[in-house]
Amino acid sequence: MIRLSDRDFHKLSEEVYRYAGIHLTLPKKNLLEGRLQKRLTSLGLNSFDEYRKLLSSAAGTEEFVHMIDVVSTNKTDFFREPAHFDFMNRVALPEQVQQKGNKSIQIWCSACSTGEEPYTIAMVLQEAMQRLGMYEYKILATDISTRVLQSAKNAVYPKSKEHDIPSALCHKYLLKSKDPARDLIRFVPEIRQKVEFQRFNLISDELPSNKTFDIIFCRNVLIYFDKPTQEKVVSRLLKRLKPGGYLLIGHSESLFHMNLPVRQIMPATFQKIQQTFENDGKTH
Ligand SMILES: C[S@@+](CC[C@H](N)C(=O)[O-])C[C@H]1O[C@@H](n2cnc3c(N)ncnc32)[C@H](O)[C@@H]1O
Repeated sequence: MIRLSDRDFHKLSEEVYRYAGIHLTLPKKNLLEGRLQKRLTSLGLNSFDEYRKLLSSAAGTEEFVHMIDVVSTNKTDFFREPAHFDFMNRVALPEQVQQKGNKSIQIWCSACSTGEEPYTIAMVLQEAMQRLGMYEYKILATDISTRVLQSAKNAVYPKSKEHDIPSALCHKYLLKSKDPARDLIRFVPEIRQKVEFQRFNLISDELPSNKTFDIIFCRNVLIYFDKPTQEKVVSRLLKRLKPGGYLLIGHSESLFHMNLPVRQIMPATFQKIQQTFENDGKTH
């Protein structure tokens, strides 16, 4: 076992913070030490000091991808925090489609983990399509971790996860494994093709300037950032949200004391304020 000293832990956590905004506290030391063992061995390294040097070398950029894969926490579920999906059905989608005549809904799921969240959104939109008379919808699903993105693209899940999905939707949108010994489910192509996955670091990456969205999900990731980083990340996201569009954050997260052009609609649900002139601060 290669030991991680407190000094190397602090240096590594500084690197993680600088790169991904993720704040690793000392209780995470054992986790980092354990999770990076295999990586050090496969790189032929004998100490965390050597690993840190690799991160700061020219080859480091590549290595960050691997390191973030092991340090990120990816817990997620289908229909997690269901109030948001209810809000989409009751308020956000009817408002966009029926009141504003916007029939092509664009959604960004900005910390999508293994895909449960974007596929939940896709099922909700697919159901809303006929009901509301929408033409189409697209979901951009991004995450910093290449490991979770790969699994999300496969769209294959243990059958036990089916319990989180209403049974009518399971019948319509899930395929069962042909081999009954393999307890797996997979989304039908109709749902899979609506979600585009892309690696994206909320701290530093940029989308093409013409990309804007009607709803942005940024749930259960702000919690890993400190307050200044949270504010920076949310302002960057808001630049991509259309005026009147909605930003959804995790229910244990908040935007208190942040100077942002939003008004709170309900817990963890914010609407971008429509400004008359850029930066004039007036709303209508
Ligand atoms: C706990 S999961 C939340 C998943 C989902 N949004 C949900 O609420 O169920 C947090 C996700 O944020 C991602 N993440 C962490 N730091 C990030 C960053 N700087 N940029 C983009 N994604 C990040 C992690 O890889 C992880 O998949």
